[in-house]
Amino acid sequence: MTQLIHLIYSSAAAYKFSEDDLIDLLTKARQYNGNTDVTGMLLYTEGSFFQILEGEESVVDALFAKISKDKRHTKAVTIMRKTIPNRSFGEWTMGYANVTSEEVE
Ligand SMILES: Cc1cc2nc3c(=O)[nH]c(=O)nc-3n(C[C@H](O)[C@H](O)[C@H](O)COP(=O)(O)O)c2cc1C
Repeated sequence: MTQLIHLIYSSAAAYKFSEDDLIDLLTKARQYNGNTDVTGMLLYTEGSFFQILEGEESVVDALFAKISKDKRHTKAVTIMRKTIPNRSFGEWTMGYANVTSEEVE
C-alpha cells in the first residue's frame, strides 16, 4: 500500500528572488509535481522559503532530496514529516504566496 505523507521544510534563498525567478521555479515545479501527483504550497518571505510537499512517501522523499541540493537556496531544514490521511492542498500542484513574516506566524 502506498503511504501518503506531508513534509514541511524551511530554507534560506541564496539571493533575492525576483518575480521572474519565482515564476520560473513554480512553472517547472508545477509540471513535475503534476506528473508525480505531488501537491502543496510554497511561501516566500524576506529571503526565506517554507514549503509543504504532499504525496506518496517515496516520491516526496526523492523530491525533497533533489530540492535540498538546489543551489538557489541553502539550509533546507525539515520542520515536519509525517503520514497523513488526506491531502490539505489536493487541488494545487504547488500553490504560492508571497507573504509577510506576520502572516507566516
Ligand atoms: C524553494 C524551492 C522549491 C522547489 N520546489 C519544487 C517542487 O515542488 N517540485 C519540483 O519539481 N521542483 C522544485 N524545485 C526545483 C528542484 O530543486 C529542481 O530544480 C527541479 O525539480 C528540476 O530538477 P532536474 O534538474 O532534475 O530536472 C524547487 C526549488 C526550490 C529552490
